[in-house]
Amino acid sequence: MSYKNLTVSNEKGIGFITINRPKKLNALNKETIQELHEAFKNADQNSTIKAIILTGSGEKAFVAGADIAEFADFNVEEGEALAREGQRLLFNFIENLKTPVIAAINGFALGGGLELAMASHIRVAADSAKMGLPEVSLGVIPGYGGTQRLSQLVGKGKAFEMILTASMISAEDALRWGLVNHVVPMEELLPLAENIAAKILRNSPVAIQAAITAVNANFKDGVNGFDVEIEQFGKSFGTRDFTEGTTAFLEKRSPKF
Ligand code: COA
Repeated sequence: MSYKNLTVSNEKGIGFITINRPKKLNALNKETIQELHEAFKNADQNSTIKAIILTGSGEKAFVAGADIAEFADFNVEEGEALAREGQRLLFNFIENLKTPVIAAINGFALGGGLELAMASHIRVAADSAKMGLPEVSLGVIPGYGGTQRLSQLVGKGKAFEMILTASMISAEDALRWGLVNHVVPMEELLPLAENIAAKILRNSPVAIQAAITAVNANFKDGVNGFDVEIEQFGKSFGTRDFTEGTTAFLEKRSPKF
Protein backbone atom coordinates (compact mmCIF):
# COMPACT_ATOMS: atom_id res chain seq x y z
CA MET A 1 0.00 0.00 0.00
CA SER A 2 1.31 3.46 -0.85
CA TYR A 3 0.69 6.66 1.08
CA LYS A 4 0.81 10.35 0.21
CA ASN A 5 2.37 11.50 3.49
CA LEU A 6 4.31 8.43 4.65
CA THR A 7 6.88 5.98 3.45
CA VAL A 8 6.70 2.45 4.79
CA SER A 9 8.99 -0.54 4.43
CA ASN A 10 9.61 -3.88 6.06
CA GLU A 11 13.10 -5.23 6.56
CA LYS A 12 14.16 -8.28 8.57
CA GLY A 13 11.16 -8.27 10.85
CA ILE A 14 11.16 -4.50 11.45
CA GLY A 15 8.43 -2.26 10.03
CA PHE A 16 9.63 1.27 9.24
CA ILE A 17 7.09 4.10 9.15
CA THR A 18 8.45 7.51 8.15
CA ILE A 19 6.30 10.62 8.17
CA ASN A 20 7.11 12.39 4.93
CA ARG A 21 5.92 16.01 4.82
CA PRO A 22 9.32 17.67 5.29
CA LYS A 23 8.21 21.02 3.82
CA LYS A 24 5.69 21.28 6.67
CA LEU A 25 8.14 19.78 9.18
CA ASN A 26 6.06 16.58 9.10
CA ALA A 27 3.11 18.33 10.81
CA LEU A 28 0.17 16.02 11.44
CA ASN A 29 -2.78 16.97 9.27
CA LYS A 30 -5.96 14.89 9.20
CA GLU A 31 -4.86 12.91 6.17
CA THR A 32 -1.50 12.02 7.75
CA ILE A 33 -3.22 10.87 10.96
CA GLN A 34 -5.54 8.64 8.92
CA GLU A 35 -2.61 7.25 6.93
CA LEU A 36 -0.63 6.61 10.10
CA HIS A 37 -3.60 4.72 11.50
CA GLU A 38 -3.70 2.51 8.38
CA ALA A 39 0.08 2.00 8.35
CA PHE A 40 0.22 1.02 12.03
CA LYS A 41 -2.81 -1.26 11.66
CA ASN A 42 -1.24 -3.01 8.65
CA ALA A 43 2.12 -3.40 10.38
CA ASP A 44 0.47 -4.75 13.54
CA GLN A 45 -1.51 -7.30 11.52
CA ASN A 46 1.57 -8.42 9.59
CA SER A 47 2.94 -11.42 11.46
CA THR A 48 6.40 -10.96 9.90
CA ILE A 49 6.74 -7.54 11.61
CA LYS A 50 7.86 -7.86 15.22
CA ALA A 51 8.83 -4.24 15.97
CA ILE A 52 8.03 -0.90 14.37
CA ILE A 53 10.35 2.09 14.04
CA LEU A 54 8.65 5.47 13.62
CA THR A 55 10.61 8.50 12.45
CA GLY A 56 10.32 11.70 10.43
CA SER A 57 11.83 12.47 7.04
CA GLY A 58 14.60 15.04 6.75
CA GLU A 59 17.04 16.07 9.46
CA LYS A 60 15.01 18.95 10.84
CA ALA A 61 11.85 17.46 12.29
CA PHE A 62 10.39 14.30 13.71
CA VAL A 63 6.97 16.02 13.77
CA ALA A 64 6.48 19.76 14.48
CA GLY A 65 2.99 19.18 15.86
CA ALA A 66 -0.59 19.03 14.73
CA ASP A 67 -1.17 21.03 11.54
CA ILE A 68 -2.00 24.47 12.92
CA ALA A 69 -3.35 25.70 9.56
CA GLU A 70 -5.96 22.96 9.61
CA PHE A 71 -7.55 23.72 13.00
CA ALA A 72 -7.04 27.49 13.24
CA ASP A 73 -10.76 28.23 12.60
CA PHE A 74 -12.28 25.29 14.51
CA ASN A 75 -15.09 25.86 17.05
CA VAL A 76 -15.51 24.12 20.44
CA GLU A 77 -17.21 21.00 19.04
CA GLU A 78 -14.71 20.65 16.21
CA GLY A 79 -11.82 21.07 18.65
CA GLU A 80 -13.12 18.33 20.92
CA ALA A 81 -13.76 16.02 17.96
CA LEU A 82 -10.21 16.66 16.67
CA ALA A 83 -8.68 15.51 19.96
CA ARG A 84 -11.07 12.57 20.41
CA GLU A 85 -10.60 11.24 16.88
CA GLY A 86 -6.84 11.76 16.97
CA GLN A 87 -6.53 9.89 20.26
CA ARG A 88 -8.70 7.05 18.98
CA LEU A 89 -7.07 6.69 15.56
CA LEU A 90 -3.47 7.24 16.46
CA PHE A 91 -2.22 7.97 19.96
CA ASN A 92 -4.21 5.46 22.05
CA PHE A 93 -4.12 3.13 19.06
CA ILE A 94 -0.30 3.02 19.00
CA GLU A 95 0.00 2.64 22.77
CA ASN A 96 -2.23 -0.45 22.68
CA LEU A 97 -0.71 -2.17 19.62
CA LYS A 98 0.59 -5.67 20.16
CA THR A 99 3.78 -4.76 18.25
CA PRO A 100 6.24 -2.48 20.10
CA VAL A 101 6.82 0.93 18.55
CA ILE A 102 10.18 2.70 18.83
CA ALA A 103 10.10 6.43 18.11
CA ALA A 104 13.40 7.63 16.59
CA ILE A 105 13.22 11.37 17.25
CA ASN A 106 15.34 12.93 14.52
CA GLY A 107 14.59 16.63 15.12
CA PHE A 108 11.77 18.80 16.44
CA ALA A 109 9.16 16.78 18.34
CA LEU A 110 6.64 19.43 19.30
CA GLY A 111 3.02 19.27 20.35
CA GLY A 112 1.40 16.34 18.57
CA GLY A 113 4.90 15.23 17.55
CA LEU A 114 6.04 14.78 21.12
CA GLU A 115 2.64 13.25 21.93
CA LEU A 116 3.21 10.74 19.12
CA ALA A 117 6.63 9.86 20.52
CA MET A 118 5.15 9.55 24.01
CA ALA A 119 2.44 7.18 22.77
CA SER A 120 5.22 4.95 21.40
CA HIS A 121 6.65 2.30 23.71
CA ILE A 122 10.31 3.35 23.49
CA ARG A 123 11.90 6.71 22.57
CA VAL A 124 15.42 7.41 21.33
CA ALA A 125 16.61 10.81 20.12
CA ALA A 126 19.29 12.45 18.02
CA ASP A 127 21.43 14.87 20.04
CA SER A 128 20.11 17.74 17.90
CA ALA A 129 16.44 16.97 18.69
CA LYS A 130 14.28 19.46 20.53
CA MET A 131 11.13 18.53 22.40
CA GLY A 132 8.23 20.50 23.82
CA LEU A 133 4.50 20.98 24.19
CA PRO A 134 4.06 24.58 22.96
CA GLU A 135 0.25 24.49 22.76
CA VAL A 136 -0.44 27.11 25.47
CA SER A 137 1.50 29.60 23.35
CA LEU A 138 -1.26 29.10 20.75
CA GLY A 139 -4.09 29.49 23.27
CA VAL A 140 -4.87 25.78 23.43
CA ILE A 141 -3.61 22.81 25.47
CA PRO A 142 -2.13 19.47 24.39
CA GLY A 143 -5.03 17.36 23.13
CA TYR A 144 -3.45 14.12 22.00
CA GLY A 145 -2.72 12.78 25.47
CA GLY A 146 0.20 15.09 26.24
CA THR A 147 -1.01 16.29 29.64
CA GLN A 148 -1.39 12.68 30.75
CA ARG A 149 1.59 10.90 29.19
CA LEU A 150 4.14 13.64 29.91
CA SER A 151 3.22 13.53 33.61
CA GLN A 152 3.54 9.74 33.55
CA LEU A 153 6.99 9.88 31.97
CA VAL A 154 8.69 12.84 33.67
CA GLY A 155 6.51 13.45 36.76
CA LYS A 156 3.99 16.18 37.46
CA GLY A 157 6.47 18.95 38.32
CA LYS A 158 8.54 18.72 35.15
CA ALA A 159 5.40 18.19 33.06
CA PHE A 160 3.94 21.41 34.46
CA GLU A 161 7.16 23.26 33.67
CA MET A 162 7.22 22.04 30.06
CA ILE A 163 3.52 22.59 29.43
CA LEU A 164 3.10 25.95 31.21
CA THR A 165 6.27 27.54 29.82
CA ALA A 166 5.66 26.09 26.31
CA SER A 167 9.45 25.87 26.09
CA MET A 168 11.48 23.34 24.18
CA ILE A 169 14.01 21.16 25.97
CA SER A 170 17.20 19.69 24.52
CA ALA A 171 17.71 16.00 23.88
CA GLU A 172 20.18 15.92 26.79
CA ASP A 173 17.56 17.34 29.18
CA ALA A 174 14.99 14.90 27.78
CA LEU A 175 17.41 12.10 28.62
CA ARG A 176 18.01 13.38 32.15
CA TRP A 177 14.27 13.80 32.70
CA GLY A 178 13.45 10.29 31.50
CA LEU A 179 11.52 11.47 28.47
CA VAL A 180 13.81 9.53 26.10
CA ASN A 181 15.86 6.41 26.78
CA HIS A 182 18.98 7.21 24.74
CA VAL A 183 20.55 10.16 22.90
CA VAL A 184 23.04 9.62 20.07
CA PRO A 185 24.46 11.57 17.12
CA MET A 186 22.02 11.70 14.18
CA GLU A 187 23.90 9.12 12.10
CA GLU A 188 23.61 6.60 14.94
CA LEU A 189 19.89 7.15 15.56
CA LEU A 190 18.37 4.58 13.20
CA PRO A 191 21.10 1.99 13.88
CA LEU A 192 20.36 2.35 17.61
CA ALA A 193 16.61 1.96 17.04
CA GLU A 194 17.30 -1.09 14.85
CA ASN A 195 19.57 -2.53 17.52
CA ILE A 196 16.82 -2.23 20.14
CA ALA A 197 14.33 -3.72 17.67
CA ALA A 198 16.71 -6.62 16.98
CA LYS A 199 16.77 -7.47 20.69
CA ILE A 200 12.95 -7.40 20.78
CA LEU A 201 12.80 -9.66 17.71
CA ARG A 202 14.54 -12.47 19.58
CA ASN A 203 11.73 -12.68 22.14
CA SER A 204 8.26 -14.20 22.14
CA PRO A 205 5.81 -11.90 20.30
CA VAL A 206 2.97 -13.38 22.33
CA ALA A 207 4.71 -12.60 25.62
CA ILE A 208 5.61 -9.12 24.35
CA GLN A 209 1.96 -8.42 23.62
CA ALA A 210 1.04 -9.60 27.12
CA ALA A 211 3.76 -7.39 28.64
CA ILE A 212 2.47 -4.32 26.76
CA THR A 213 -1.05 -5.04 28.03
CA ALA A 214 0.17 -5.43 31.61
CA VAL A 215 2.37 -2.32 31.67
CA ASN A 216 -0.38 -0.20 30.07
CA ALA A 217 -2.86 -1.45 32.68
CA ASN A 218 -1.04 0.62 35.30
CA PHE A 219 -2.25 3.77 33.54
CA LYS A 220 -5.87 2.80 32.85
CA ASP A 221 -8.65 4.18 35.01
CA GLY A 222 -10.45 1.63 37.16
CA VAL A 223 -8.10 -1.18 36.15
CA ASN A 224 -5.94 -3.02 38.68
CA GLY A 225 -2.59 -3.52 36.95
CA PHE A 226 -1.53 -6.26 39.38
CA ASP A 227 -4.66 -8.26 38.48
CA VAL A 228 -4.00 -7.75 34.77
CA GLU A 229 -0.42 -8.93 35.28
CA ILE A 230 -1.62 -12.10 37.07
CA GLU A 231 -4.12 -12.79 34.27
CA GLN A 232 -1.56 -12.22 31.48
CA PHE A 233 1.08 -14.23 33.36
CA GLY A 234 -1.33 -17.16 33.72
CA LYS A 235 -2.38 -16.98 30.06
CA SER A 236 1.27 -17.24 28.98
CA PHE A 237 1.37 -20.80 30.35
CA GLY A 238 -1.16 -21.86 27.72
CA THR A 239 0.85 -20.59 24.75
CA ARG A 240 3.10 -22.43 22.33
CA ASP A 241 5.72 -19.75 22.90
CA PHE A 242 5.90 -20.63 26.61
CA THR A 243 6.44 -24.31 25.82
CA GLU A 244 9.06 -23.44 23.22
CA GLY A 245 10.83 -20.82 25.37
CA THR A 246 11.13 -23.00 28.47
CA THR A 247 11.97 -26.16 26.49
CA ALA A 248 14.67 -24.32 24.52
CA PHE A 249 16.19 -23.04 27.77
CA LEU A 250 16.29 -26.52 29.29
CA GLU A 251 17.70 -27.97 26.06
CA LYS A 252 20.34 -25.19 25.99
CA ARG A 253 19.35 -23.92 22.54
CA SER A 254 17.80 -20.72 21.12
CA PRO A 255 14.00 -20.67 21.06
CA LYS A 256 12.14 -20.59 17.75
CA PHE A 257 9.15 -18.31 18.27
N1 COA B 1 1.54 23.10 11.58
C1 COA B 1 1.52 23.55 10.31
N2 COA B 1 2.60 23.96 9.64
C2 COA B 1 3.77 23.90 10.29
C3 COA B 1 3.88 23.46 11.62
C4 COA B 1 2.69 23.03 12.27
N3 COA B 1 2.69 22.57 13.52
N4 COA B 1 5.17 23.53 12.01
C5 COA B 1 5.85 24.02 10.95
N5 COA B 1 5.01 24.24 9.92
C6 COA B 1 5.33 24.77 8.59
C7 COA B 1 5.57 26.27 8.60
O1 COA B 1 4.34 26.98 8.55
C8 COA B 1 6.40 26.44 7.37
O2 COA B 1 5.55 26.36 6.24
P1 COA B 1 5.73 27.44 5.00
O3 COA B 1 7.12 27.18 4.51
O4 COA B 1 4.67 27.03 4.03
O5 COA B 1 5.57 28.78 5.60
C9 COA B 1 7.26 25.18 7.35
O6 COA B 1 6.56 24.23 8.15
C10 COA B 1 8.64 25.37 7.93
O7 COA B 1 8.50 25.89 9.25
P2 COA B 1 9.24 27.23 9.76
O8 COA B 1 8.44 27.79 10.89
O9 COA B 1 9.49 28.14 8.60
O10 COA B 1 10.61 26.62 10.26
P3 COA B 1 11.57 27.25 11.37
O11 COA B 1 12.83 26.47 11.30
O12 COA B 1 11.64 28.71 11.25
O13 COA B 1 10.86 26.90 12.78
C11 COA B 1 9.67 25.55 14.36
C12 COA B 1 10.71 25.60 13.21
C13 COA B 1 9.43 24.08 14.68
C14 COA B 1 10.26 26.25 15.59
C15 COA B 1 8.37 26.25 13.93
O14 COA B 1 7.98 25.73 12.68
C16 COA B 1 7.23 26.09 14.88
O15 COA B 1 7.21 26.71 15.93
N6 COA B 1 6.23 25.26 14.52
C17 COA B 1 5.03 25.09 15.28
C18 COA B 1 5.28 24.24 16.50
C19 COA B 1 4.02 24.10 17.33
O16 COA B 1 3.52 25.06 17.89
N7 COA B 1 3.49 22.89 17.38
C20 COA B 1 2.35 22.59 18.17
C21 COA B 1 1.13 22.61 17.34
S1 COA B 1 -0.30 22.28 18.34
